Order: sequence, then C-alpha cells, then structure tokens
Amino acid sequence: MSDVLVLEGPSTLGGTIPIAGAKNAALPCMVAALLTPDPVELEGVPPVQDVFTLRELLMSLGVDVRVDGSRWTLQAERLTSTTVPPDLARRMRASFLTLGPLGVRFGSAEVVYPGGCAIGERPVDLHLAGLEALGFTVDSGGARVRIQARRLRGAVFEFAKVTVTGTEHLMMTAAAISGTTVLRNCAREPEVVQLAEFLRQMGADIEGAGTAQIVVRGSSSLRGTAIRIIPDRIEAGTYAVAAVLTRGRVVLRGARAEHLTTLMECLAGQGATVQTTTEGIVVDARAVTDFRPLRVVTEPYPGFPTDLQAQMMTLMTQAPGVSEVVETIFPDRFNHVAELRRMGAHIELAKPVARVYGPTPLRGTVVAASDLRASACLVLAGLIARGTTVITNVHHLDRGYVRVEEKLRRVGATICRIERVSGSRSRVPGEGEGTIGNLPLG
Ligand code: EPZ
Repeated sequence: MSDVLVLEGPSTLGGTIPIAGAKNAALPCMVAALLTPDPVELEGVPPVQDVFTLRELLMSLGVDVRVDGSRWTLQAERLTSTTVPPDLARRMRASFLTLGPLGVRFGSAEVVYPGGCAIGERPVDLHLAGLEALGFTVDSGGARVRIQARRLRGAVFEFAKVTVTGTEHLMMTAAAISGTTVLRNCAREPEVVQLAEFLRQMGADIEGAGTAQIVVRGSSSLRGTAIRIIPDRIEAGTYAVAAVLTRGRVVLRGARAEHLTTLMECLAGQGATVQTTTEGIVVDARAVTDFRPLRVVTEPYPGFPTDLQAQMMTLMTQAPGVSEVVETIFPDRFNHVAELRRMGAHIELAKPVARVYGPTPLRGTVVAASDLRASACLVLAGLIARGTTVITNVHHLDRGYVRVEEKLRRVGATICRIERVSGSRSRVPGEGEGTIGNLPLG
C-alpha cells in the first residue's frame, strides 16, 4: 500500500531548497561500475527508490555495494551471475543499461525487456542495433534479450532517434572495447556528459560528449575512480515552477543554471526573475501579477525537457488565455491531465498536443499519481489549489524525489505524508487536528 501526501492550499513558497544529486546521472554511473574489477566511488547519490532498486539488482549479480551517507562505493570484482533477475529488471528501465557492460566484461548477459510504463511504449531497438554494431550477437526472442560477445570491435553507429539511455548504453559499452567507436545523433543531456567524464576518469578516451557525435577509444582495462554526481536539474526545475506558481521566492541550493536554460527562459517569460548566485539559482516571482499563456514543445536537450512538461502544465492552468503543450518525445505522457481536470483545470487533449484554457482556479480533492513526473505536477497543483489535496500512489514520486514533503514544508507549504503501511502520520509542526482537512483517504 502506497503512502499518501496531503496538502492544504493555497500557499506561497519562501526559502532555500537543497537540490539532490541527479537520479538520471547516478543510475548510469552505478552501472559503469560493472566495467572494472576496481572499486568506484560516487558522491552525492540521491536516496531515491530507483537508486535502491539498482543497488538490489547489482548486488544480486555479485557486485559489492557499500553506502556511507551519500557516498556509494561499488565493486564488481567477481560476479555470480550475468542474468539480471526479471522482477528487479522490470521495476526500472535503467536496468537495461547493464546488458552491454555485462556482455563486454563477462562475455554474455541476459535481461528482460523493460516493460512499457505509464508514459508509453519504451522500445530498446536502438540499444540492440548498437550492440550488434559493436560485435555482439543479440538473441531478442521472447520476453528477454540475451547477448554474446562474438568479435567485439569499434564501430560507427548512428541513432535513428535521439535516445538518452541508448547513448549512455553504447558509450559505456564501447569504452571497454579496444578500438574506435563513433556514435552519431547522440543525446546531449548533462547526464550523458557526466557519464563520459566518469568513463574518461576510468581510462577511456572519449570526445564529443554533449554534442551529437561522440568518439570513444575504448580500453579493455578500465580502472576505479571517484566522481561527484551532478545536481538533479529536473528536481530543481520542479521546485522552480513551484516558486513561480505560488508567487514566492526560492533558492535552489546547488542547482546549475546552465542545465536549465530553456525552463528558466520560460519562467522569466512569466515575469519571474532568475538569478545565479554562489549558493545556487534564485527564482523570485513575488512581483508576478498575471501569468502569461505559453507554448511548450518538448525536445531532446537542450530543448524543453519532457520531464518538466507536466509541471509546466500546472502553471498553464493559471495563465489567462490558451496555452499549449506539444509532447514530441513520449506522445502518451499525459496521465496528469485527467487529474488536473478533476481539480478544475480546462484541458483539451489531442495527443501529442494538450491545449490548456486558463485561468481556472484549482480546488483540492483526492487525486492519484500515475508516473514520476505526473506526481510532481499534482504536488504543484496541491500547492495552489484551494482546500485540501490528497495524492495517492505516492510511491511513483518517491522513485525520483527525495523527501518532497520535508523540502516543501521548510519553505512554507502545508504538506504531510501519511504512511499507509504503518498508518502513522508524520505531523506538520503546529498542525492541529483538521488543519489538513478531513477528506476521506480513499
Ligand atoms: C531517459 O529515458 C530518462 N531516464 C527519462 O527520464 C527521460 O524522460 C528521457 O530520457 C527523455 O529525456 C533515464 O535517464 C533513466 P529515450 P530514456 O531513450 O533514455 C525512443 C524520468 O522521469 N526510443 O531518450 O528511456 C523513445 O520511445 C525519466 O526521470 C526508441 O524508439 O528515453 C522515445 O520516444 C522518465 N528506441 C525517444 O526515443 C530506443 O531504443 C527518447 O527516449 C530507445 C528510445
């Protein structure tokens, strides 16, 4: 049974929010530990569910994982298996990244297909085509994929579509193959750049990460190293939208503005001021009067991130006129629309386009989270909705956000988590009975 978040709105945020390490940077770096028998050290790993799932998966293969606060040490000296347990692999798409590293280091590997998820079909055909180009035989019949290292060699491979984990998967596999690999039409995300830096520190020669063409001169003897995980730009972006939505002022401590230029341009377009200080990014929307309608088209980095589309839609419900979202990456990524409508939003959906008519006052009710970023959108809606908002299925949120209720409470939100397993309730300081409302927790 999943926890529940309960919010009382409307509220105005003011204060500092510490930004955690990026889940989508930590996951590929954890997988890269498979490429060397030496220990690797990751500092600033975020304590989120996806990271714990990957730890369980790696340990099930025989990887030694030691955690000391946010410092994780992983060592794949001797493995007990190269077949990823299906129940673990199905929980998280990033588990598919283990296929190539296991295959290049140990000669073969087997992983079940990552299922589709709430945001749509999640094919891996480009991952498999790239592994074949590197010299693996790929047996992809049935529900699982099995690869064998035949004659591994450097290759030239062009991605038919820009894929983040596809780029990460092939870059880290090629890093352990002697020879030169040229990857074209690559993803340019900061998480790809960090992985390349990590692999370079391990001894691979990699050029072009952050551009569309990456050249990898691999080494069959990669060594251990240590790296600090970059801050989570999607967590930071989520709280930046919250600051503007509530017309508050928030310092996103540790966030890196260069990872969020497109979003910050959108928020400045709403009349907020966005400044970079030594402490992080300061988003000040206290002088914002009316929001302005806007159009967001999601694109691969550095375009508008698909992972912030749902959050931006919440802001659109408060802008007078017609706003629009065009979701070019995951056309089905609109599970949040039905729940926003139940809170009072007026949204017309003709995938991959959503048209938002505003402003519509949002009112608290019971809503259900469905995927990681749709859950974040509902939290933002609960911050500005009048009355009590109850969000169920909060385990979706916990996959990618660290202690969201604590971080928001510290900057003025009235929010608490009810742990449905124990039935206990984490109290909001100063909360009397009924200040969170008495909605039946369905
Ligand atoms: C990564 O997913 C992120 N996950 C996602 O974040 C993010 O939304 C996505 O990139 C896009 O930015 C991690 O990094 C762990 P893709 P990924 O491969 O790599 C198609 C979150 O909320 N495609 O870049 O799985 C695919 O269908 C998560 O943290 C193929 O057709 O996404 C999509 O249309 C959600 N064949 C497009 O490419 C393939 O073999 C981009 O997907 C691979 C992808």
